[in-house]
Amino acid sequence: MNYTGPKIVTPPPGPKARVIIEKDLAMLSPSLTRTAPLVGYRAEGVYVEDIDGNVFLDFGSGIGVTGVGHRHPTVIAAVKKQLDTLVFVNSLDYYTLPQVELAEMLFKVTPGDFPKRVFYSNSGSESIDTAIKMAKWHSRRAYGVGFINGFHGRTVGAMSFTTTNLTARRGFAPLYPIGQFTPYPYCYRCLFNREYPSCDMECVGYLTDVVFKKIIAPDETAFILFEPVQGAGGYIVPPKEFFTILSDFAEKHGILLIADEVQTGYGRTGKMFASQHFGLEPDIITMSKAFANGFPAAATVARKEVMDWDGNAHEGTLNGGPVIMEAAKAVLKVIDEENVLENVRVEGDYLRSQLEELQQRYPIIGDIRGMGLMIGIELVKDEKKTPAREERDRIINAAFSKGLLLMAAGESSLRLIPPMIINRQQLDMGLTIMEDCLKEL
Ligand SMILES: Cc1ncc(COP(=O)(O)O)c(C=O)c1O
Repeated sequence: MNYTGPKIVTPPPGPKARVIIEKDLAMLSPSLTRTAPLVGYRAEGVYVEDIDGNVFLDFGSGIGVTGVGHRHPTVIAAVKKQLDTLVFVNSLDYYTLPQVELAEMLFKVTPGDFPKRVFYSNSGSESIDTAIKMAKWHSRRAYGVGFINGFHGRTVGAMSFTTTNLTARRGFAPLYPIGQFTPYPYCYRCLFNREYPSCDMECVGYLTDVVFKKIIAPDETAFILFEPVQGAGGYIVPPKEFFTILSDFAEKHGILLIADEVQTGYGRTGKMFASQHFGLEPDIITMSKAFANGFPAAATVARKEVMDWDGNAHEGTLNGGPVIMEAAKAVLKVIDEENVLENVRVEGDYLRSQLEELQQRYPIIGDIRGMGLMIGIELVKDEKKTPAREERDRIINAAFSKGLLLMAAGESSLRLIPPMIINRQQLDMGLTIMEDCLKEL
């Protein structure tokens, strides 16, 4: 495989893909809603090839999973080496070296120069459930606060704090009944119709002056769970002040801060964790997606004194298997050795500047926001900011037919989250396709 750019050899989905899709739709869960009719066959770097030989430039990296690029050679070599020695002993009952080595590496890159502990699991949702349980155990308090438009996953605990849309919740009540919700600073569509910075952060005021004064007592609240940049909700970046007010309040009342960095983590925003942009040192931090570059893995890292639960309080048979731990170690090695954070910063700035130029020419682009190589483009129909949802979906479909994988977020946003090793030329190819799609629209 020596991919040099997107290449469409047969209009996708091609004949082989159509057969697979038909069978898939008949047999797999109908809860899986696919963005595009891609049947992945092989991949490398920033490219994915489908089963009919079409090659796509990947601006989604599986929602940020293949962060250092598909099948990065260092990750693949580490996995192959581990496969030849030990695939599994369960970490409920025994110990392995890779878990300990990875913990040492993780504690160096996670925010906060204090003693920590880690709990490994297999998905972002599990890492959230771990955090929720841990915060409740440690504090012996009942409640947790989440944010409107937040996405934390699909297991019952994580889902109970997911408020991106009703389909994620409808039909599953009663959910874990401890959550209270408050507005996130979505300044482009402020719920209070105010403008930042003259708004005095009325959204945080709602939390401190309404939620914590009329609904739940701060001293009965175990945690505040937040995404430092909302992901599925539409790549929403809060003003720095938001986190200052939040963390001061939490500290004053002994409330634990849980940063969900499942999507923002691992270099995506130009720092290892997005919390670091805001000077935050969360008590608990969750990570998954890019953690092992495609192998199912997650971690919940906490202050040592917070992860103080009893033996048996929380476990999982498959957690932290040695092959996956080696993949995760290799990811950290690549990020360090290949200067990936610098690439994210430089190419992220470039991508953003090019998108801002497009915005001048295409009024459908209402807002561009994000950090590093995590950029949201909110599409609107008019000056009243009517969400251009259908147009957004048409752009995704048109891009797909031209060999570019784009993903959606929020009601009418595109999310650009390409592999963090993407180069200028590859970004330009994607931008050209995006502009063609905008023109056609
Ligand atoms: C911020 C955030 N938290 C949690 C999750 C859930 O992760 P998973 O799908 O691996 O369970 C996601 C997934 O998109 C996410 O973006």
